Amino acid sequence: MDFFLDSAETQEISKFHELGIIDGVTTNPSLIYKSKKPFRELVTDICEITKGPVSVEAISNSNEKMVEEGFELAKIASNVVVKLPMTWEGIKACKILSKNKIPVNVTLCFSSTQAILAAKAGATYVSPFIGRLDDSNIDGTDLIREIRTIYTNYGFTTKILAASIRTKNHITRSAMAGADIATIPPNLFHGLANHHLTDKGLETFNADWEKSGQKIL
Ligand code: G3P
Repeated sequence: MDFFLDSAETQEISKFHELGIIDGVTTNPSLIYKSKKPFRELVTDICEITKGPVSVEAISNSNEKMVEEGFELAKIASNVVVKLPMTWEGIKACKILSKNKIPVNVTLCFSSTQAILAAKAGATYVSPFIGRLDDSNIDGTDLIREIRTIYTNYGFTTKILAASIRTKNHITRSAMAGADIATIPPNLFHGLANHHLTDKGLETFNADWEKSGQKIL
């Protein structure tokens, strides 16, 4: 499973990138707004930090404008992926941009039928929003399982990018349901390596080693 960082904070992105475990980045207009940085400069910086795919969202409502914006965004860097909303206009724009070899991430996906449309329109990624479905008392990872089955049944190559990930459990369950990628917010990423039993076990091993009086170096 690939891990993307769901962030527009260059410091965070650099930090995780240096660990060598980030395969890409996803942004959205809310994250860009929070970063308080000029948009183009920010996207250029992110695309330099990571060579992996960087999703950047178009903001117009009409397919014509989305296509224009998509071409413009794609000029910023070769690893830009144009994020388009799961609307009919977004689907039309996805078809055009994908035909022009510009990768598209269809975002705000909340149903399997939407995911089929995204795949038929040539999307490189589809982003089911797990956490927001859970907020509505619907199991978001069930949606991933459905999409995985459908895509496998019909040979669709669109990658399933589990988004709106809020907990470690969301990552585990998305992986088990067959998501290709999880996009993870930095605060959750920080805690991924932690487990209280790891800390406890390490404490005991270190104490016993100390008592043994032995050395490795
Ligand atoms: O990748 C989409 C994500 O940023 C949305 O997350 O937590 O606002 O639902 P959330």
